[in-house]
Amino acid sequence: MSLKFNTIDDFSVNNQTVIVRVDINSPVDPNSGLILDDTRMQLHAETLKELSNKGAKTVLLAHQSRPGKKDFTTLEQHSHVLSKILDLPVSYVDDIFGSAARDKISQMKPGDILLLENVRFYSEEVLNREAHLQADTHLVHKLSPLADIFINDAFATAHRSQPSLVGFAFELPSGAGRLMEKELKILYGALDNVQKPCVYVLGGVKVDDSIMVMENVLENGSADYILTTGLVANIFLLASGADIGVCNNDFIENKGYNKFVEIAKKLITRFEDKILFPVDVAICEDGKRVDVVSDQIPNLPIYDIGMETIKLYAQHIRRARTIFANGPAGVFENPEFSIGTDDILNAIASSQGFSIIGGGHLAAAAVQMGFSSDMDHISSGGGACISLLGGEELPVVKVLQEVAGKK
Ligand code: 3PG
Repeated sequence: MSLKFNTIDDFSVNNQTVIVRVDINSPVDPNSGLILDDTRMQLHAETLKELSNKGAKTVLLAHQSRPGKKDFTTLEQHSHVLSKILDLPVSYVDDIFGSAARDKISQMKPGDILLLENVRFYSEEVLNREAHLQADTHLVHKLSPLADIFINDAFATAHRSQPSLVGFAFELPSGAGRLMEKELKILYGALDNVQKPCVYVLGGVKVDDSIMVMENVLENGSADYILTTGLVANIFLLASGADIGVCNNDFIENKGYNKFVEIAKKLITRFEDKILFPVDVAICEDGKRVDVVSDQIPNLPIYDIGMETIKLYAQHIRRARTIFANGPAGVFENPEFSIGTDDILNAIASSQGFSIIGGGHLAAAAVQMGFSSDMDHISSGGGACISLLGGEELPVVKVLQEVAGKK
């Protein structure tokens, strides 16, 4: 599929105010509040250094987490980390489009970089609506008159149709940043050449994205097997009629994921031979790992897939010619429960198939466990990457294509 979109090469940015949407959403330690991993910030360095070197006044829009979550924090700390990575000053203002932010923007000089506050502190941002409606929002109305160009480098959020991601393209000459450009080239290139069998390994805790992708790739026939891990697997176990214990049930309910159990039931009925869920799981008993078969799960938290499941999944992965994986298999930060994630990554790394892994947590695990250099591509996006690979048209990509050639 040939994609056409503007890039930084299409604009003369010297002395221009450039709004850049980045995705620096990072894991934050719930106790200390410190940023645990700065990979995403590093990935934006190329775009930001280039713009600064070329004399742009760069205004950064970004989000951190979602309302209601513990890591839904301000971006002040991000500005310090980003400044260290870029080796350039990055100023920060605790405002998004109010007079404090607008004053700061109007005082900027060529080469300056300014990070605005977490854009999801503003309620209109979290309403996913059609792209053209997002141009008619306070954020876009207030900031567009101060800017000359909009650059979208937030590939990891390209599956959201939110004002800071899709609204500005209707008001300002727009294009993709270097990270966005690279991701789109690699991922669409991979989609053009999917070799069968094609296996999707879907795990982690962002069940909404995984279930949507699963529906798409099973319907359109691109997936030969779906191997479920993490919370996604627990939902399928529940949907299959397994008793997963009250505490695991409650966890799903508290996350608001009960609605996905019904969808999972329908998917199992229609695609029984293509969706695999764990035959055993690892539960946490007094801090220790205990593997139990899936029809005898006690009321203790499930923290990983079990050893038999790992063996079964590894066989499928080794036979696959294309592997797309998203989200860890369990609580890999705890060594007792890292085996599932470690062994699945090992199987992907040693498979002859073409491999793409996505999602901040799985990418961090691949780096930590020493498998990153054996993957064909590690995407900065989780949901965005897997949605694209699942055949979905990402709102940000659609808008970038619509404005291609317009300057
Ligand atoms: C991610 O981490 O996947 C992106 O930053 C998107 O975050 P979201 O799922 O909260 O929109």
